[in-house]
Amino acid sequence: MPDQRREQWTSRGGFLFAAIGSAIGLGNIWRFPYVAYDNGGGAFLIPYLVALLTAGIPLLILEYTIGHRFRGAPPAAFRRLSRPTEAIGWWQVAICFVVAVYYAVIMAWAVRYIGFSFGEQWGNDPEKFLSAKFLQAADAPGGISTYVAGVAWPLVAVWVVTLGVLALGIAGGIERVNKIFIPLLVVLFGILVVRALFLDGAATGLDALFSPDWSKITEGSVWVAAYGQIFFSLSIGFGIMITYASYLPRRSDLSGSALVAGFANSSFELLAGIGVFAALGFMASASGVPVGEVAASGIGLAFIAFPKIISSMPGGDVFGVLFFGSLVIAGMTSLISIVQVVVSAVQDRFGLGRRTSVLGVGGAVAAVSIALFPTDQGLYLLDVVDHFINQYGIVLAALVVLIVVGWVLRRLPAMQEHANTASAVRVGTWWRVCLGVITPLMLGWMMWDSLRGEFAENYEGYPTWFLNAAGWGVAGGVIVVGVVLALLLRRRATTAEAEPASAPEAVQKGAS
Ligand code: ALA
Repeated sequence: MPDQRREQWTSRGGFLFAAIGSAIGLGNIWRFPYVAYDNGGGAFLIPYLVALLTAGIPLLILEYTIGHRFRGAPPAAFRRLSRPTEAIGWWQVAICFVVAVYYAVIMAWAVRYIGFSFGEQWGNDPEKFLSAKFLQAADAPGGISTYVAGVAWPLVAVWVVTLGVLALGIAGGIERVNKIFIPLLVVLFGILVVRALFLDGAATGLDALFSPDWSKITEGSVWVAAYGQIFFSLSIGFGIMITYASYLPRRSDLSGSALVAGFANSSFELLAGIGVFAALGFMASASGVPVGEVAASGIGLAFIAFPKIISSMPGGDVFGVLFFGSLVIAGMTSLISIVQVVVSAVQDRFGLGRRTSVLGVGGAVAAVSIALFPTDQGLYLLDVVDHFINQYGIVLAALVVLIVVGWVLRRLPAMQEHANTASAVRVGTWWRVCLGVITPLMLGWMMWDSLRGEFAENYEGYPTWFLNAAGWGVAGGVIVVGVVLALLLRRRATTAEAEPASAPEAVQKGAS
């Protein structure tokens, strides 16, 4: 049966808020500033812009086009593209399952840190507070022996909110929440950046971030970093954008939306760089050390460096609430989009109602997250799973999609035609060259480069058994899950079998 009753965004603006909400997340706030600083500062903006224009935006347009053309979450969309490619769709669903499981945990930590900001409850040693007191992390990877209630309850709350929003549907839940959260995020984060700019030493931090080191531009690793940043930050390769675009009305401006979402995400990223480095400049000046000594990324930046900054500045409590509040808002809108892929895939494939799917599979993601991560092993698991699923999940899946769509099935011209049906900005040969040649070559190189690093030394010095289980095991496991699910569901006749017909007239207006 053609999928006539698929939910829809109420307007193009609603879709854009959701797509931008998905893109803006931890990648913008805690990843971009350090990646830019570490890879040539001001000079990094060149590889970054090249990556955005040759890979980020072209791939966004392709994902929007696949989702819009085949009107389904990745498994149904790829199946309609060509039956054997359904496995790629389930692979992306499995990637989203894994990412959601740990992404929610970081949200739970940030929720607790909003509370800890009052009175700077981390004391004089935020590093020790994080690992020993709050997370109760074991000294080394091993079996789980402690369950940490202080992480578990905010995690349960994060899951209740996430699944609650998803249960309310595309327009009533996801769209509405993003329309509130994204403007709120811009206001809160904007206040934080202005405050950071007025701190003593802010200029030193900005100088460190933006001083261009032109020699870096000839280093391959800098280009690899730029492409990696664009991928994670724009939420491409997860199947999220395929899913979100499947809820667009028939006549929709796909390439225009990709340009808006891509540039909005990068603008926020730049704003985050300014705010974070102004604050780091303050800390470096206060402690009389170079910015390089205090600069950090990821968990180290958010849960160690920022608490130190908050403790040493006037009005730190409010700054802490703004910072961790922004992390929660930015992350929640991304988490919602990641879980939606899993929910929507199962809904499409088994013809289930939204609430049943949210409770069943969304509940399963939440259960795994709540069972494994609020434990003394949570920190190690998160670090390793995140590293491997990014490199050998998201990036590899994007490479496979490009090879299959561009070279095996040779469907880029058809996708180009579809993208241009109702788009203000028409894509041309350059788009096919970016997707068919430049991006696959770049991704292939990235893959080779990181594999070389992986075999040269153990990631973060972790024991080999742990990397095999939580790293390679998980990254390989999601591929196996993808193939097995596609094989098991091969014969099942559901809505996913049919090439979708046009949506009813009533829903053809709106998002164009
Ligand atoms: N794009 C999301 C982020 O940046 C996943 O965190």
